[in-house]
Amino acid sequence: MRRPWLPLAVATATALLGGQLAFAGSATAGSDPVAAKPSPAPAYPADSLRALAARVGLRIGTAVNADELGSNEKYTQITAEQFSSVTAENAMKWAEVEAVRGTYTWEKADQLVAFAEKNRQLVRGHTLLWHNQLPAWLSTDGYTTTLSNEEVKAVLKEHIFAQVRHFKGDIWQWDVVNEAFDDNGQPRQTIWYKAWGGTGYIADAFRWAHQADPKALLFYNDYNLEFTGPKSNAVYELVKSLKAQRVPIHGVGFQGHLSTQYGYPDLLSNLERFAALGQKVALTEVDVRTLTKPDAVNVPVDALAPYAQESYWSRSLKACLAVRACISFTPWGFGDSYSWVPGWFDDPQAGAALIYDEQLNPKGQYHVLQQDLALAAGAPHRG
Ligand code: G3I
Repeated sequence: MRRPWLPLAVATATALLGGQLAFAGSATAGSDPVAAKPSPAPAYPADSLRALAARVGLRIGTAVNADELGSNEKYTQITAEQFSSVTAENAMKWAEVEAVRGTYTWEKADQLVAFAEKNRQLVRGHTLLWHNQLPAWLSTDGYTTTLSNEEVKAVLKEHIFAQVRHFKGDIWQWDVVNEAFDDNGQPRQTIWYKAWGGTGYIADAFRWAHQADPKALLFYNDYNLEFTGPKSNAVYELVKSLKAQRVPIHGVGFQGHLSTQYGYPDLLSNLERFAALGQKVALTEVDVRTLTKPDAVNVPVDALAPYAQESYWSRSLKACLAVRACISFTPWGFGDSYSWVPGWFDDPQAGAALIYDEQLNPKGQYHVLQQDLALAAGAPHRG
């Protein structure tokens, strides 16, 4: 099937002649239609990641730090100019939106959605069900709770309907379920698993999300799926079983938290096998960390490490470009100062994981992505 926006790519190509890209369509939820609501077209550089990615029908995204958006001018400008999709790094997580049971605070998430609308970006919703960042009234660790099993089931259903309905029509892809399996391929014994007495909660979560917004693409999202192994095999079997139960799952998110300390994974073959199940796939949280100095957490210890990092970024993007079902490629943020990596991987210290440096200047990693997209745009379309 040719991509619906191919005519747009042609339009885009002609508009490129002007250097500053005039975007002729607007972005709404579900699949990527050229929707109505004409409004003044934002302009962004023709060699921006988003402009080049648009030419090959790919959405290039970023995780967005809600505290920087709007208050940090350079951060905000790069977010608008370089990316055609955005994900809330934290603002849509349960602990952030329902810190008090039954009371929802959508401000930060609404601001991101409004920003995306204004800048013609599609929104990846992250995340409806996880065992981390839960409100204390529900669970402080994701594995224990004072609520009864029936209460746990009721609050999950309530939460999914409340959140998905609040953003109905605004969300392109929802990470419905995040990180339900450990690295041995075993289901995590979370409060959800315990309440349902198994993984049945996953099917229910997808059904509820679909009822609440039938247009949104619903994803299972996880890390270390890039490697063929117990976890990616368990998720592969999960997707097959959900499809057999006619559960509305539309895609699988490969987080893509990579490190030069480990060999490069067989990402392409994993994207292809999930695509062969009729699923959309997406790279949803890409970063490539390397060992850095304890007193300069974004300065690699090894001067040659950036070349390896650039190679891992390039291979990950090319794997996505090689698979027609891969619809978006999202770095987990873009500026090293805002990355979660140095705070989490501090023994040994790691960092320098993103594509812009601490001063928000593009690194070699950015230029490699730009080059790969420009080359892909020059090549026969992957339509
Ligand atoms: O909001 C509170 C704030 O009120 C408080 O003052 C502050 C100090 O403790 O903490 C703030 O919460 C922090 C939150 O980010 C928002 O900034 C949490 O401590 C901190 O743990 C949380 O880190 C996030 C992490 O998920 C939590 O697990 C990272 O920013 C975020 O990048 C990371 O993202 C996850 C994806 O969602 C799922 N996949 C893995 C990825 C990396 O861990």
